[in-house]
Amino acid sequence: MLVNQNISLKPYHTFGIDVKTKYFVEVHHIKEIEEALAFQKQNHLELLILGGGSNLLFTKDFDGIVMKIALKGIAKIKEDEDFVWVKAAAGENWHEFVLFCIENGWGGVENLSLIPGTVGAAPMQNIGAYGVEIKEIFDYLEAYHLQSNEIQCFTNKQCKFGYRESIFKNEVKGQYLITSVVFKLSKKHTLNISYGDIQQILTKNNEEPSINNISQAVIEIRSSKLPNPKEIGNAGSFFKNPFVEKIHFEKLKSLYPQMPVYPVNEELVKVPAGWLIEQCGWKGYKNGDAGVHAKQALVLVNYGSATGKEIRDLSEEIKHSVLKKFGIALHTEVNIV
Ligand code: EPU
Repeated sequence: MLVNQNISLKPYHTFGIDVKTKYFVEVHHIKEIEEALAFQKQNHLELLILGGGSNLLFTKDFDGIVMKIALKGIAKIKEDEDFVWVKAAAGENWHEFVLFCIENGWGGVENLSLIPGTVGAAPMQNIGAYGVEIKEIFDYLEAYHLQSNEIQCFTNKQCKFGYRESIFKNEVKGQYLITSVVFKLSKKHTLNISYGDIQQILTKNNEEPSINNISQAVIEIRSSKLPNPKEIGNAGSFFKNPFVEKIHFEKLKSLYPQMPVYPVNEELVKVPAGWLIEQCGWKGYKNGDAGVHAKQALVLVNYGSATGKEIRDLSEEIKHSVLKKFGIALHTEVNIV
């Protein structure tokens, strides 16, 4: 196991912020995880577990050890007439995993094409896009308990998935390292084209809905709206779409009849944060190298050498203005370190 010292984290996360970590280690096997944890405990270091670094904003140098999860491997572990159970190691790239499933004719992940990050990070926040969340195809995961050094299983129910939420962001935060995830994928597909843009693209391209065509349509939509982190630093949606009480929403709707809305339950609706931020005039805003993406106001961007603090300050200004104009509190989706 090789422990690097004082290295830049810029290549290891998608916001491209130039911060350093005191120690950095890449783990490829469970044995290396054990060794890295022994080193961390011996030296009383703070630990940061890193997947693809696509949901992180660093605001300062990290004075501990960053452990990059590089566990690899994808295997079919079981199948019946209708389904196949596929186990993927935490360090596998999410989009490459999606493409592998599509090539093999396994359905359920196609709407989640081109999401940055790794397989192991995906359940942490129950990634979702274009009408599908990972919880719909998730069977169970294996996670390494950092205190007892034992591997434990978490079923779908035990993960307590919610909108961009799981038990790993709440009750057991910081206690486990996800090592692999098992997905239950379909051989006879139930396709989800409920998200309007997918339907439109299939019609435009004169294509039948299939897992491959849906994946291509999602790639087309994402590429047209979301900045490619290889070109412009970003971490996808910076905020969650807020839940708003129906009574409050009705009042706002009379003032802003164009306000889009998603139903949630009897009392609540969900309002797109991107719309709220755009209405406050932030879309395309730029101050130095920190900005708000010109095609999707929910995405904050680093045009080159913005600091994490500049991005965080901008996010606070945005929150403040949305609260002032609409009386709605935005909550950050990205993890700020
Ligand atoms: N909108 C605006 N202005 C904007 C952005 C959006 O008016 O600048 C409006 C759109 O016109 C649309 C609505 O807001 O009516 C929703 O926009 P969009 O379909 O782009 O999706 P979103 O709600 O902004 C969520 C996810 C994305 C996911 C898309 C598609 C969250 C926090 N974000 O965004 O996930 O790709 O839906 O399903 O739920 C991510 O989590 O990093 C992410 C990119």
